[in-house]
Amino acid sequence: MTVEQIAAHPVPQRLLDESRCPKPHVSSLEQYKSMWQESVDQPEKFFGNLANELLSWSKPFDTVKHGSFENGDIAWFLGGELNASYNCVDRHAMKNPDKVAIIHEGDEPDQVRKITYGELLRDVSKMANVLKSRGVRKGDNVAIYMPMIPEAIVAILACTRIGAPHSVVFAGFSAESLRDRVVDCSARVVITSDEGRRGGKNIATKRIVDDALGKGEANQVESVIVFKRTGSPVPWVEDRDVWWHDEMDKARSVCAPEPMNAEDPLFLLYTSGSTGSPKGILHTTGGYLLGAAATVKYIFDYQPNDVYACMADIGWVTGHSYIVYGPLTLGATTVLFESTPTYPNPSRFWDLIQKHKITQFYTAPTAIRALRRLGDQWVDGYDLSSLRVLGSVGEPINPEAWDWYNEKVGKNQCAIVDTYWQTETGSIIVSPLPGATPTKAGSATLPFFGIKPIILDPTTGKEITEPDVTGVLAISQPWPSMSRTVYNNHSRYLDTYLNPYPGFYFTGDGASRDTDGYIWVRGRVDDVINVSGHRLSTAEIESALVSHETVAESAVIGGNDDLTGQCIHAFVSLKPHVEAGEGLEKELTLQVRKIIGPFATPKRVYLISDHPKTRSGKIMRRILRKIVNGEQDQLGDISTLADPSIVDQLVEKVHGVK
Ligand code: WTA
Repeated sequence: MTVEQIAAHPVPQRLLDESRCPKPHVSSLEQYKSMWQESVDQPEKFFGNLANELLSWSKPFDTVKHGSFENGDIAWFLGGELNASYNCVDRHAMKNPDKVAIIHEGDEPDQVRKITYGELLRDVSKMANVLKSRGVRKGDNVAIYMPMIPEAIVAILACTRIGAPHSVVFAGFSAESLRDRVVDCSARVVITSDEGRRGGKNIATKRIVDDALGKGEANQVESVIVFKRTGSPVPWVEDRDVWWHDEMDKARSVCAPEPMNAEDPLFLLYTSGSTGSPKGILHTTGGYLLGAAATVKYIFDYQPNDVYACMADIGWVTGHSYIVYGPLTLGATTVLFESTPTYPNPSRFWDLIQKHKITQFYTAPTAIRALRRLGDQWVDGYDLSSLRVLGSVGEPINPEAWDWYNEKVGKNQCAIVDTYWQTETGSIIVSPLPGATPTKAGSATLPFFGIKPIILDPTTGKEITEPDVTGVLAISQPWPSMSRTVYNNHSRYLDTYLNPYPGFYFTGDGASRDTDGYIWVRGRVDDVINVSGHRLSTAEIESALVSHETVAESAVIGGNDDLTGQCIHAFVSLKPHVEAGEGLEKELTLQVRKIIGPFATPKRVYLISDHPKTRSGKIMRRILRKIVNGEQDQLGDISTLADPSIVDQLVEKVHGVK
């Protein structure tokens, strides 16, 4: 389907009917446009007001906006002091201690825990005192490796309370990946659980932490705080490991929040890039918190009494901004879901929505595609009438999945918000607003407040101003929640985001802009693969493969996949004189799982005699990509290959025919 054939859906009438729904914060396209114009023309005024409306400052800021892309010195709300944990917990607990802050839906549908703001304040304060007693001081980084349990949120906010930046590592990462992240940020305390539960299975979180810390440099870790989730026996390192409950029992339940400068680091989150090791994306306190809260307010149209649910994992940025910081800053009830969309059956999401009367539901296209494929019978019959906003994030959503989400889940009565953003942007940057923006299936539509997206010609780097164009997506002025640096590596930050197109922030994505000014994000233009919304670097997977003793060289590319968006194809050549023994492909697949984590499992590993290379020895990944995606008749000029005959061999390997 071409862009032109996709008709716009008007805002559902129900959302604008005050007898049926609360009045949306922005209720017409004109209102959005004038607010957006003000936000980009007078950001000081717009964000100064918003920061005072949505956040509580212990000391007011005096400069709203500072710095430039050219200088890489962006700062917001200078002079201001605030504490994120105070903003997320205390101020709501003081006003409304019995309001539910977190609904935890455990792995089994009958395991529901509700935690009020009053209880959250007590637990966060206690944990903050525990961290202090383990020697954590303002500015020390703390690593968190936890499953989807409320204690993960308690741990995050406890760090925040004492000004210790957290580095949450997704609990699907392997011991080696965890070690790299713990070492890079010099964490001396790691918070984990004995095990996790997901989809009826136990996940050995503590054992993975032990493996990660056992050897070498990660010995710097002095304390591991272990929450008891399943009660299974776990190995124990005396003098290092302590039980969460033992320490909490001893701790005082009062801990004054540390006043932080707006630009003090709030957290690090490692993410994959084109090259080298993962980058510790650093977010600061004021701007980030404002971005998270403002987008929940406007993009999810958060209203008092809503029950807001984001299905992401807390280990990714979506979990940070849209399970924890955004909703809690607004005093919302946020749902934390421990299980999977198909456990114990594919009605789990719909059961969750019906049971908790969820008003905003946020998930990824992969989940939508998988559930659509399993059939409508799993969603039919559920009462989903509480829903107003359905969000999608992580990868482009194909129109078929969008339509299904809209019709089967939203019953054509909800706003579908396809939200585009990145770990680095901190919060959503392109998205419809529920009461204002007509939507088109597959387009993230229009920029959020403060965001000026532009399309650049990738070769000249010049802005393309005409309508109906495709190029690389960049942002032309700073916004509050953008990441400020890469931890301990500011030059890498500059080289990745600000230097490629001077004067602009480069997203790494390709995009089109149609005649209505709508943005259609096409996917990464760098060596990042997006599998089920998980961001992976080809370089990292290649280096995992090359670390196997038999492998000489590897090239990893993203293939198209109906379910996961993209999938990993690895082309591997072996060292001379190595025989490809039985099961080597399997072993190499396991190697990647072991070094990175199960979510990075290659779909196919091809053992090949050599890679398609230029005469200077550079692997032409473009050719591999075309072959894998069935475009071998569109290879273009292959005369620059050192050995053009290799192409036929590769086609045969992948497709079994010449
Ligand atoms: C992709 C996840 C199209 C994009 C929040 C981006 C999307 C990368 C969308 C960031 C969307 C995210 N439409 N593509 N709505 N949302 N992406 O850092 O390629 O894990 O650069 O952040 O996901 O992934 P990350």
